[in-house]
Amino acid sequence: MAKIILSIMLVFSLHAGSDFKTKCLACHHEEAGPDMYNVYLMYLRVHGSNKRVKEAMFNFLKDPKVERSLMKMDVITRYGIHPLLSFDDKELRRLFDSYIELYDVKKRIRITP
Ligand code: HEC
Repeated sequence: MAKIILSIMLVFSLHAGSDFKTKCLACHHEEAGPDMYNVYLMYLRVHGSNKRVKEAMFNFLKDPKVERSLMKMDVITRYGIHPLLSFDDKELRRLFDSYIELYDVKKRIRITP
């Protein structure tokens, strides 16, 4: 029984973020857009929590403007400002959830005494 539950959990964890991978990472690689982990870290540094990061990114993507970008100017010069995406609000929020879930710093750091 434990094996079955473990397998089910594994399938779910492999699936997590796959939508985000096809819909966001399609651009977010070296040739077409900035690395998503660096983007997340920059937003986290400025906004301080995953919840606020999601809200700030949501507001930016709904109305991308150079003056509201958190990227350095060379990123904008290299790739241009963010294209408007055609996802509805619900879908966009769902994609942010998978995005942050995948890169969440809380899962990546270990504090040892
Ligand atoms: C059509 C290509 C494309 C797609 C699809 C795309 N991005 Fe981007 N993204 C870019 C480019 C180019 C930049 C760099 C320009 C900028 O920051 O405005 C960027 C930058 C960003 C930034 C930094 C914004 C800033 O400037 O402060 C965030 C956040 C972001 N993308 C989130 C997402 C998420 C989440 C998705 C999926 C829902 C996504 N992007 C899908 C091209 C894309």
